[in-house]
Amino acid sequence: MSEFVKIYSYGGVQEEYCKKINKIYHEIMKIEKPVAYVKTYGCQQNVSDSEKLKGMLSEMGFTISCDCDKADIILFNTCAIRENAENKVFGNLGRVKAIKKKNPNTIIILCGCMTEQEPVVQKIKLMYPFVDLIFGTHSAQEFPKMLYDILNKNSSKGKLVHIINKEDSILENAPLIRNNKIKAFISIMSGCNNFCSYCIVPYVRGRERSRRPEAIIKEFKLLLEKGYKDLTLLGQNVNSYGKDLEEQINFPSLLKKLDDFKYEYKIRFMTSHPKDATKELVDVIANSKHIARNIHLPVQSGSNQILKRMNRKYTKESYLEIIEYAKEKIPNVTFSSDIIVGFPGETYEDFCETLELIKNVKFSSLFTFIYSPREGTPAATLPDPVSKKEKTKWLLELLKVQESISQEICKKMVGREERVLAENYIENEKCLMCRSDGNIILKVPSNTDLSGEFINVNIVDSARESLMGSLI
Ligand code: SAH
Ligand code: SF4
Ligand code: F3S
Repeated sequence: MSEFVKIYSYGGVQEEYCKKINKIYHEIMKIEKPVAYVKTYGCQQNVSDSEKLKGMLSEMGFTISCDCDKADIILFNTCAIRENAENKVFGNLGRVKAIKKKNPNTIIILCGCMTEQEPVVQKIKLMYPFVDLIFGTHSAQEFPKMLYDILNKNSSKGKLVHIINKEDSILENAPLIRNNKIKAFISIMSGCNNFCSYCIVPYVRGRERSRRPEAIIKEFKLLLEKGYKDLTLLGQNVNSYGKDLEEQINFPSLLKKLDDFKYEYKIRFMTSHPKDATKELVDVIANSKHIARNIHLPVQSGSNQILKRMNRKYTKESYLEIIEYAKEKIPNVTFSSDIIVGFPGETYEDFCETLELIKNVKFSSLFTFIYSPREGTPAATLPDPVSKKEKTKWLLELLKVQESISQEICKKMVGREERVLAENYIENEKCLMCRSDGNIILKVPSNTDLSGEFINVNIVDSARESLMGSLI
């Protein structure tokens, strides 16, 4: 483990603060059942962090509610990946102002990626002075203490406290509240070292740091024992897992260890960076019992010129090589990807190369984004002559191509038999919502609620980008 990474084990002092907060609400404020509202923006990493914050809030005696109007604490866990992600937070902060006016005791908290950017914090202080506490992505382990200080008016800096801890850390053993009883996220590493030229993540999440394999395996095993069936391993680049650890372990070998339990379950993971996706990884998936036959491999662009300027460190050719290898080794494998349209200086010819790549690979689904300049990243200083209107036109062209590819993939699956996990039951439609091994949504009519179970189905029909099945 690199010297600068500090592992915090939740407990002791923070638990004491939880008790003190509980006391303040019950005995001083006379609120019998305090309520917390937690809104999460952004990626699964943030969802996973919010699960920890909710766990701590629950230890403080809060009930977690979906209704912010009656909440005693409103917490926004923010995302900074694109301008519209930030605008959503600002919009919701505007709405919260009225709640705070009606009930000045409501505590408003902002954390997550946006709060690691100084200009954003300045804007919040200026335009939303009713926010009580702001803390960055490395400070979750101190959440109970920070909240206690706010409630106790212990803050020396006035009402609004802004806490930024630059130390790259890992938080272990935090209490967790997971929303789902079948599917769970397990964060295996945090941070990112890649500095893709458009991306804010390395600046707001710090350097890559892997959790120790023992801690991951323990959490994974516990989830299986509790009955979880679909486990997604999280990291900004899971393929570089272990590079910062002393022990000899890499992502494929971690996967092998997690594939070895005697339960029926699925392992998924995201995100894989193509520069570090190896044949060893493909071989492990091909030989595994539990790893889903779906690889999310964000390509961003099909033009080598643009990939170079994005600092992605792979070429279209090397990307296609790993895709071809996976197609050869893993029967019925599906791929999904992320695409950025309109990177600064991208021409229509560059964009057409992305279209070509999409047609070549045939992704089952795509997450597509129009480039959004992020202050402080190298790409934000590049000339960007193509208009937003033109970029939107390109994006629509891409979506049309992708729609027919997704339909084609779904059509090809008709007639196949699969064993899938029933995730939800829609009572009024008498229908199970399932997910195929290749991560495609599958609807299966059923008179009984079989959610949480693996079921055998015949795939009988395909709709736009989903499938219909029947129970065998
Ligand atoms: N670590 C992952 C991606 C995390 S961010 C990876 O490298 O694949 C998720 C996606 O958001 C990225 O894949 C990219 O497609 C998109 N994205 C990131 N920064 C962006 C920006 N400035 N503008 C538009 N899309 C962006
Ligand atoms: Fe951002 Fe690139 Fe890191 Fe992904 S790999 S989080 S796109 S810098
Ligand atoms: Fe957003 Fe932070 Fe994730 S910027 S995408 S929440 S790592």
